[in-house]
Amino acid sequence: MNDSDLNRLLKVASQARSVAVLTGAGMSRESGIPTFRGADGLWKDFRPEELASPEAFQKDPALVWEWYEWRRQIVLKAEPHEGHRVVAAMEQRFPEFLLITQNVDGLHPRAGNEKLIEIHGSINRARCTKCGSRFDLGNRMLSDLPLKCDCGALARPDVVWFGESYDSQLLSASLDFLASADMVWVIGSSGMVSVPVYLAAQAREAGAFLVDLNPEEAEFSRYCDLKIRSTAGAALPSFWNALTGGRTE
Ligand code: APR
Repeated sequence: MNDSDLNRLLKVASQARSVAVLTGAGMSRESGIPTFRGADGLWKDFRPEELASPEAFQKDPALVWEWYEWRRQIVLKAEPHEGHRVVAAMEQRFPEFLLITQNVDGLHPRAGNEKLIEIHGSINRARCTKCGSRFDLGNRMLSDLPLKCDCGALARPDVVWFGESYDSQLLSASLDFLASADMVWVIGSSGMVSVPVYLAAQAREAGAFLVDLNPEEAEFSRYCDLKIRSTAGAALPSFWNALTGGRTE
């Protein structure tokens, strides 16, 4: 980031009251969690419709569960990085704050964020396909797959799959917040999923200052006021040091 961009960013951030952060898979890349698209992305080896869709689950629930359990084990061993900690510190600093994440890995809450919407659900939770009850999956590796609910019916990962709708309450809570946000960060999302692009566009429309943090140009970029072509793990800590003089809260 050049000096003039950094100065603009610091000016907006020091005056902002209401800040939102939208994160995608790139946010977790430096914690060792593969993204979906890109050179080493998960969708290089798997076809989304074969593993992350209601049809795939109907056809082969054990295969879908095994794939989620493999990913969950990677997530459980991973740790939030410095960039996650900055997003948690933002929640403490700005009077109004909301994190909207597409990530199901739970690294943001582990870093300390509480004001967050996990818009794609959580890989650490299951939901019964019949009675709808939700339960945490804990830390142990699951062996008896596909998982069953106590009521005897099949359980599924509590995530949003291709072809499924978003939870309307979570979506409207996100839109409500974005309608009055001063500053919105979009971090590590390719924008290939249209709802996050829509959220960013709405925030821009409502007058927020949009920051695009991604090593590559993304679908969001055209809506953004400032582009940071760097990684979450590098750019967030240097921004935070410049803003706070090194304090994390
Ligand atoms: N820091 C910031 N951004 C990064 C980093 C990094 N260290 N590394 C990669 N990126 C960027 C990539 O340039 C890319 O634009 O992260 C983005 C990752 O894109 P996707 O893998 O498409 O992730 P995402 O946009 O979150 O995907 C959306 O697709 O399959 C579904 O439900 C799944 O939530 C996921 C959704």
